[in-house]
Amino acid sequence: MPIRSILAGAGGYLPERIVTNDELARTVDTSDEWIRERTGIKQRHFAGPHETATFMGTEAARAALAHAGAEVADVDAVILATSTPDQAFPSTAVRVMAALGVKGGFGFDVAAACAGFIYALSVADGMIRAGQAKGVLVIGSEVYSRILNWEDRGTCVLFGDGAGAVFLRAGDGSGTDRGILSTHLHAQGTLGDILYVDGAVGQRGKPGHLVMNGREVFRHAVTRLAEAVDEALNANNLTRADIDWLVPHQANQRIIDGMGRKLGLAAERVVVTVDRHANTSAASVPLALNEACQDGRIKPGDMVLLEALGGGLVWGSALVRM
Ligand code: UT7
Repeated sequence: MPIRSILAGAGGYLPERIVTNDELARTVDTSDEWIRERTGIKQRHFAGPHETATFMGTEAARAALAHAGAEVADVDAVILATSTPDQAFPSTAVRVMAALGVKGGFGFDVAAACAGFIYALSVADGMIRAGQAKGVLVIGSEVYSRILNWEDRGTCVLFGDGAGAVFLRAGDGSGTDRGILSTHLHAQGTLGDILYVDGAVGQRGKPGHLVMNGREVFRHAVTRLAEAVDEALNANNLTRADIDWLVPHQANQRIIDGMGRKLGLAAERVVVTVDRHANTSAASVPLALNEACQDGRIKPGDMVLLEALGGGLVWGSALVRM
């Protein structure tokens, strides 16, 4: 009997504090007009001191379990994607396990920047199919406000904080096409210097700030994400017409529009949160997925395509029948 990972529920958490473009423009040499025109971003959420990756990831996980109608006792693994963990170790995943009260099981973090959720989803799917876990929380949780360089207007206006989560349940794959159909991961380490953080806990006294060559990342994003989308369709003998919803990484409205056009999807079939959340890195795809599940747009049986690209470069896609 083949095992499938069924996406049983989704959840999200956004920090209470909302910062508009105009508010940023009071301290950064920028304008609401520039940010909206170049990125589609109107506002973002910034975490308060208590809204850490663990705190937000835990809240998103609780919401995903509630949406799935699942209990903490159903969780036997937590896989959490973040580039902004509270500590070098223990992992944010096990901190979330402790906060939730998960007894037993296992947990670990995945570091794949903005593609982190797709990477974590792929790992979780593989473990479920291999019979290593039956109930997995997959979380993306990020506090990029703590790694932004406020002197660099080319990057500090682009990011926000938040967390998104899904609960995956092992299901019987025979006679159904529900669940994760396939995931596709890629990396090109030689492009590591076009988007990176210039420090880490391993570098004494240098926690680091985000550095990006925006134009280069944009150029690669358009090409690589288009390839990843084709790869997902081809692997499942599907065509563009089979896709009901695109849930893309939320970095720039122009990149999102390009992906929607490539798939021939009407704009209303593309889930967009970048205007309100900005780029929340590994949290962006699950936050967008959660929003469209909660407001009734994405329904059981719908075919959903997820994609993301981030510093590494790392990128990937996933195809899910809800
Ligand atoms: O999540 C990981 C994936 N990340 C991405 O996918 C991001 C990909 N890149 C992008 O989204 C875009 O490249 C950006 C939004 C980052 C930048 O947009 P752009 O159209 O590529 O602008 P640019 O960097 O080429 O800058 C154009 C102009 C420059 O001025 P000059 O040299 O033409 O006079 C910048 O100095 O815009 C200026 N500029 C700004 N002006 C006002 C850059 N940032 C700002 C700003 N406010 N915040």
